[in-house]
Amino acid sequence: MTSVVISGSGFFAPDSVISNEELVASYNQHVEEFNNDNAAAIAAGELTEKQPSSPEFILKASGIERRHVVDKAGILDTLRLQPEIESRDDEQTGIQAEMAVAAAREALQKAGKQPEDVDMLLVACSNMQRAYPAVAIEVQNALGCGGYAYDLNVACSSATFGLQSAVAAISTGQAKCALVLSPEICSAHLNFSNRDCHFIFGDACTAMVIEPQASCTAQGAWEVLDTKLFTQFSNNIRNNFGFLNSSESPPREKDDTLFKQNGRSVFKEVSPAVAQLVSERIEATGLKTDDISRFWLHQANINMNNLIVKRILGREATTEEAPVELNEYANTSSAGCVIAFHHHNDDLPPGSVGVMSSFGAGYSIGCAILKRLS
Ligand SMILES: CC(C)(COP(=O)(O)OP(=O)(O)OC[C@H]1O[C@@H](n2cnc3c(N)ncnc32)[C@H](O)[C@@H]1OP(=O)(O)O)[C@@H](O)C(=O)NCCC(=O)NCCS
Repeated sequence: MTSVVISGSGFFAPDSVISNEELVASYNQHVEEFNNDNAAAIAAGELTEKQPSSPEFILKASGIERRHVVDKAGILDTLRLQPEIESRDDEQTGIQAEMAVAAAREALQKAGKQPEDVDMLLVACSNMQRAYPAVAIEVQNALGCGGYAYDLNVACSSATFGLQSAVAAISTGQAKCALVLSPEICSAHLNFSNRDCHFIFGDACTAMVIEPQASCTAQGAWEVLDTKLFTQFSNNIRNNFGFLNSSESPPREKDDTLFKQNGRSVFKEVSPAVAQLVSERIEATGLKTDDISRFWLHQANINMNNLIVKRILGREATTEEAPVELNEYANTSSAGCVIAFHHHNDDLPPGSVGVMSSFGAGYSIGCAILKRLS
C-alpha cells in the first residue's frame, strides 16, 4: 500500500471581523425595528414578538467570540442582514476561487510543490457559488494545475471526505499530487435575522497538499495512517437552497433557503457518534488513546468538542490536546478542522499521532489518523 502524506497546509481568512457585541447590537436593533413595525400584528397574536440576543449567551452556548467575514457592512446593516458581494463578470475570477487560490499557494509553498505538480484538485466545501463549471476547475485554471478537478460537498465534513478521496486516488496511482481546498463563505447561507443561529458562522478557506510519501520533500509532513467516513440521514441541519428553488410552486420563503438547524438535537446525536467513531479508528489502527497527542476537531461548538474528547480520553482534554479556533473564526464549516490542524501541528515532534475529525450536516462524520514523519 502506498504511504500517503499531507505535505503542506494553507489558510486564508478575510480581514473583516465582527465581534459578538457588534453582531448582537445589529441583531437587537433589527428586533426592535421588527417589533415596532409589526406591533399591531403582534398584539393581535398573528406574529410572535422577536426576542433579543446576547453576547453572554453566544459565548456560553458556543465559545464563539468573533468571526471573520467577506463583508461586514452588509451583515450589520439592519435593512440587509446579509453580506453584500459585488457581482463579477464571467471572465473574472470568482470570490470562492480567489480564496481557494490564496490558501492553495501557501499549502503548495509549504509542501515545496509547484502548481504544475498538482494533477488532482478538489474544492470540497458546503456551498458552491454556482452549479457549473465546477469551482475546482476554475481554481485548477487559475493556478495552472494539470490533471482533473471537481467539486465535492458533504457540508461540514467536505474537507475530510475530500482528504479520503485524495488518499484513495493517490494510493491507487490515479493521481500523483492532490490539492483539497475548502473555501467557505458561510456568512452568505446564514440567517442573520434568526436569534437561534445568527452568531454561528464565519468565512475562511483551507488547503491541504496530499501526495505519496515517496515524492514528499517537505519537513513536517503527516502520514495518513487511516481514514474513515460515516453518514446517516438527518433533517436536523438543513439548507433547502438549490437549482429547483425558482421552479418550486408555491415558492419557498427566503428564510427556507438558508441554513437552519435543531442545534440541541445535533449536539446530543452527533457528539456520541463522533466519539465512538474516533475511538474505534484509534483502536483499529493499533493505537491507544494515550498515543494521540492532538485532536484537530470540527470547530462548531466548544462544549461539543469538550464532550467528544472527554468521551474518547475518559478525562477533560487540555487546549493543547484539542486546540480551539472557533473563538476567533466561529464555525467555518468544513474548513474548521483543517484550520485547527494548520495552526497547531508544527510544534509536535516526529512520531506524534493526531486525529482530524469533522462532523455536521447529513449527518456526516469524517476521521483521519495522522502521524508526523520528520
Ligand atoms: C446552537 C447552539 C449553540 C445552541 O445552544 P444551546 O445550549 O443548545 O441553546 P438552546 O438552543 O437550547 O437555547 C437555550 C435557550 O436560549 C435561548 N436562545 C437561543 N438563542 C439565543 C440567543 N442568541 N441569545 C439569547 N438566548 C438565546 C433559547 O430560546 C432557549 O431559551 P429557552 O430555554 O427559554 O427555550 C448549540 O445547540 C450548538 O452549537 N449545537 C451544535 C450545532 C452544530 O454543531 N451544528 C453543526 C452546524 S454545521
